[in-house]
Amino acid sequence: MAVQKILTYPDPRLRTLCEPVLEFDKNLETLIEDMADTMYDAPGIGLAAIQINVPKRVIVMDLSETKSQLQVFVNPEIVDLNQGTREVEEGCLSVPGFFVPVKRPEKVLIKAQDKLGDHFELEADEMTAVCIQHEVDHLNGKVFVDYLSRMKRERIRNKLTKARGDFESRVA
Ligand code: NI
Repeated sequence: MAVQKILTYPDPRLRTLCEPVLEFDKNLETLIEDMADTMYDAPGIGLAAIQINVPKRVIVMDLSETKSQLQVFVNPEIVDLNQGTREVEEGCLSVPGFFVPVKRPEKVLIKAQDKLGDHFELEADEMTAVCIQHEVDHLNGKVFVDYLSRMKRERIRNKLTKARGDFESRVA
């Protein structure tokens, strides 16, 4: 069990283009365990490795009520199945306290590898489709506030920067 610190927007490290995983080894296993521990502890429903400052293309998700169905996606790719778009209110562990509507493709095909490197495909809709697209954005250095107008995004940035400043001046 190793809960890691989650990077918070506008931390520039969240802009990293993450590298594909080539070695399916013990290090990857440990990374996935840390990511799951961090996600469940937060608590959240999805986490990308870069959110704990590891620039690798790895995602964990758990959309179950009981938090007992961990999904792992290594080197995921998303194909839009062209079933229209849907707008859902999203949140993000790296943008705490903000929920904003984001419009995304409604149904997608996910192609990914599991923690052993085996390839699999999964058709996703509903929250699975929303969540995987949100997390794949993280792997490409994108944060969901990028879908907002510049004015709204800067309002969030200022609030979070101020909140962190307050926190740092309290603990320093
Ligand atoms: Ni996020």
